Amino acid sequence: MCGIIGYIGIKQATPLLLQGLRRLEYRGYDSAGIAVLGQHGISIERAVGRIDNLIDKIGGHTIEGTMGIAHTRWATHGGVTEFNAHPHRGCGEDIILVHNGIIENYRELRKEFSEKHTFVSQTDSEILAHLIESHYDGNLRHSVAQALQHVHGTYGLVVMHRDHPDTLICARMGSPLVIGMADGEYYVASDPTPLLTHTKDVTFLDDGEIAELTREGINIYTLRETRIHKDIQHIDWDDEQAQKQGYPHFMLKEIFDQPTVYKDALRGRIIEDEGTAYLGGLNLTPEEIRNVNRIVFVACGTAYHTGMIGKYIFERLMEIPCEVDVASEFRYRDCVLDEHTLVFVISQSGETADTLAAVREAKRKGAIVRGIVNVVGSTIARETEGGTYIHAGPELAVASTKAYTNMIAVLLLAALEFSRMKKMNVAAGQRMIHALYEIPEKMKKMLEQSEHIKTLAEKHKEYRDFLFLGRGVNYPVALEGSLKLKEISYIHSEGYPAGEMKHGVNALLDPAFPVFAIMTKNSLYEKMRSNIEEVRARGGKIILLATEGDEDARDFSEDIIFAPPTMELLEPLLNTLPLQLFAYHMAVALGRDVDRPRNLAKSVTVE
Ligand code: G6P
Repeated sequence: MCGIIGYIGIKQATPLLLQGLRRLEYRGYDSAGIAVLGQHGISIERAVGRIDNLIDKIGGHTIEGTMGIAHTRWATHGGVTEFNAHPHRGCGEDIILVHNGIIENYRELRKEFSEKHTFVSQTDSEILAHLIESHYDGNLRHSVAQALQHVHGTYGLVVMHRDHPDTLICARMGSPLVIGMADGEYYVASDPTPLLTHTKDVTFLDDGEIAELTREGINIYTLRETRIHKDIQHIDWDDEQAQKQGYPHFMLKEIFDQPTVYKDALRGRIIEDEGTAYLGGLNLTPEEIRNVNRIVFVACGTAYHTGMIGKYIFERLMEIPCEVDVASEFRYRDCVLDEHTLVFVISQSGETADTLAAVREAKRKGAIVRGIVNVVGSTIARETEGGTYIHAGPELAVASTKAYTNMIAVLLLAALEFSRMKKMNVAAGQRMIHALYEIPEKMKKMLEQSEHIKTLAEKHKEYRDFLFLGRGVNYPVALEGSLKLKEISYIHSEGYPAGEMKHGVNALLDPAFPVFAIMTKNSLYEKMRSNIEEVRARGGKIILLATEGDEDARDFSEDIIFAPPTMELLEPLLNTLPLQLFAYHMAVALGRDVDRPRNLAKSVTVE
């Protein structure tokens, strides 16, 4: 949610900042801007819309200088206009900054400043420039620290000053910032993806920290200006993974990445002889695992759907009560937690504001809190006392695909490990491991049907409503298929547990309301089949996902996708892929901006 990049070093800043913005564009794409400090002062350019508009605006002319900041915006306060685009300035135009987050008391501050300061935007961010300006005493770091004492809300902030050509100041409260270190050059960004081309050595700022970046090095302080030491972390993501590699969209590339990154989630975590898995990062002793009497999964969006799948997995394998909650509800609910409750917080970015708040709430109430996270070193990864990385690599399309799959893979491994400590025998554990090993080849079989799914999408692109149906572990899969379709193709769709249709949704059935039904051969096959019979009897148009060899399925529809058989609990690892592809091809057929759907952002760091 808003992307920030800053650079100080020896190279020309503009190309580096623009390249960085491109990598961050998935965080917001309402407007973009850049400010570079060179020998002839500060140059600023801003443009509404995509980074390309900014690049066009800069045109051939060089913005010269070796230090600068840039921003891509996802609007929260103030419309999408050039005035509201970052960087923002104070009245004297000496202080220039980019901000991610929300300044909650900006109205009060603005009122207080309105007599002496002139505001040119409607944003909450602009007040920060005026506030720093009013505290400026020649020491930029001190002025920022002083100004921030008056701010309520969240910020990831990078500030520069016309008179300080050797200093960038960064500060964090609630909105992520990571500093990258190369030789004589320093970068700061909202997440590590734009840094990968330049360095893999990074340090993550924590809330309440201020960093001073110069060409000689970085120093980090608390808001009270006590100097602190922070460790450098090495990120092992491959820059190649963050490129499109010939695919027309990141989303398609990431869908096709799944057989490979799934193996990364399993790698080094399976002990075949003992029929178990080992997730060392969870930091739980066998004793602690046996003492857990309830599991709560908390997440948002696509990650929430993996939590729902987690509930089916852990109830079946561990025979333990499980609950699942969206983080924005969980954090404000009177949820009952104790030291025997294990809370799994699931997040691709590790920065989602509601999910992070849920972590803090669950810790406050004494639960055991563990993260299932993709981005290494992200806030949720750091604030939980243990957890496991899903190793999906950088995911850049706003619509999550491969992170979803690897979240499920890790949940399966954790459930296998826990269950082997409670009730599962070695042979059952080994059967599950073999089924897990077979998944990548089966995923490839699903992906080979991409052209067929494209035909189905084109055939159905005129429909304005869709229904996705599943049962059991395929109910969350139906929800995920529905979410994918709405978020990238803007078609209204609903996901439903098929058994619930007769309690209301059947009234909607007509030939203009196609039903995408997941009817694979599992313990609920007969039940699902009856539900689909009911849809057919009412004239509903059906697209079917069935198991290979189920020739009877052809009676229901000519529009069929076949999935290879697997263990029931592993079905989401296969069954979701055609739904992702269906949404993708539908969005392409409708001419949508697949990787950057309107009104959405990848990393939702505001509440
Ligand atoms: C946003 C993204 C979704 C994602 C959700 C949760 O809404 O567009 O794709 O599932 O946030 O994000 P997280 O990073 O916590 O998994």
